[in-house]
Amino acid sequence: MCAKPLKKEPRQVETTGHQWDGIEEWNNPLPRWWVWVFVATVVWGIGYTVAYPAWPLLTEATPGLIGGNERLAVEAEIAAADQANAPIKAKLVAADLTAIGTDPELAQYATNAGAAIFRTNCATCHGSGAGGVEGKGYPSLLDDDWLWGGTMEDIHLTITHGIRNTTDPDARYSAMPQFGVDGTLDATQIAQVAEHVLALSGQEHDATLAAAGATIFMDTGCNGCHGDTGIGDRTLGAPNLTDAIWLYGGTREAIINTVTNAHFGVMPNWNTRLSEDEIRAVAFFVHSRGGGE
Ligand code: HEC
Ligand code: HEC
Repeated sequence: MCAKPLKKEPRQVETTGHQWDGIEEWNNPLPRWWVWVFVATVVWGIGYTVAYPAWPLLTEATPGLIGGNERLAVEAEIAAADQANAPIKAKLVAADLTAIGTDPELAQYATNAGAAIFRTNCATCHGSGAGGVEGKGYPSLLDDDWLWGGTMEDIHLTITHGIRNTTDPDARYSAMPQFGVDGTLDATQIAQVAEHVLALSGQEHDATLAAAGATIFMDTGCNGCHGDTGIGDRTLGAPNLTDAIWLYGGTREAIINTVTNAHFGVMPNWNTRLSEDEIRAVAFFVHSRGGGE
């Protein structure tokens, strides 16, 4: 198999006896270097499977003489990082919610950790930039238009317990009636009250219809949740109807649809999925995005 030390002239090499159209197949040995590299890889391969976990057994693989493996290494690294972060996490949990921002080290940690937590858990609904999805009921978290409140306490509570979910009894809750579906208002009345909402938000509208709608707004109790002037009520998560920011859309069609069918925006509670330090970090991150109060 191995090359002989002396390089032979091609003619000295035996042929395999195969011949096609006068072309002979020689029996040249493999180059020496190639054979040695081949042997070295075999030796290396055997050594590797002895040193590292490799051969599958019934329940697990052979552990390997070195005793370490990638998984253990990652686990150790995570444990080390956790341990390194333990003091600052404890500090975050102990801090007064409103004081997090006054401690630069704590604020830095909460911003970084919060951004990562947001990307993993919140971006699917609120968008990677936290800008929300206009018209789909996923609010922007960047503006100062808050449904349930924009202080650190408010945001912390919203994230901890969620909104209108069935998994946390302390979730924020309210439900706008389905005025069209349950027959409280007929199509004409809905068109009128929608016209009033257009007027409230400063949009182009029919003044006569809107005037009739204003009466309905008071008589049907829209004002009970959205306020007499339509500015909303944070204790009920009732949106401000006088601004240009819409959860479900501010066109005539979208408003008629909302009054007819209502909406029931649900956000999961995070207290079972995130630890308190993680909730605080992401609350701080959201609060610091621009709209925090
Ligand atoms: C499954 C979709 C979903 C996910 C995931 C989600 N949210 Fe929400 N979130 C919503 C919806 C829907 C609302 C609006 C509910 C309503 O109509 O009142 C909301 C509202 C909020 C509010 C209240 C905004 C305001 O104006 O008062 C905050 C704060 C918030 N989310 C933060 C978060 C954070 C932080 C995360 C990640 C830990 C997150 N959300 C994950 C759907 C989601
Ligand atoms: C019991 C309280 C309640 C009453 C009564 C009520 N609403 Fe609402 N309304 C809400 C809540 C809460 C929301 C947000 C729903 C959600 O986030 O899922 C909302 C949402 C809306 C929206 C959507 C706003 C947006 O940003 O997209 C419009 C428009 C609206 N209401 C109009 C009305 C009108 C008109 C009436 C009366 C006919 C009315 N509401 C009565 C609580 C109420």
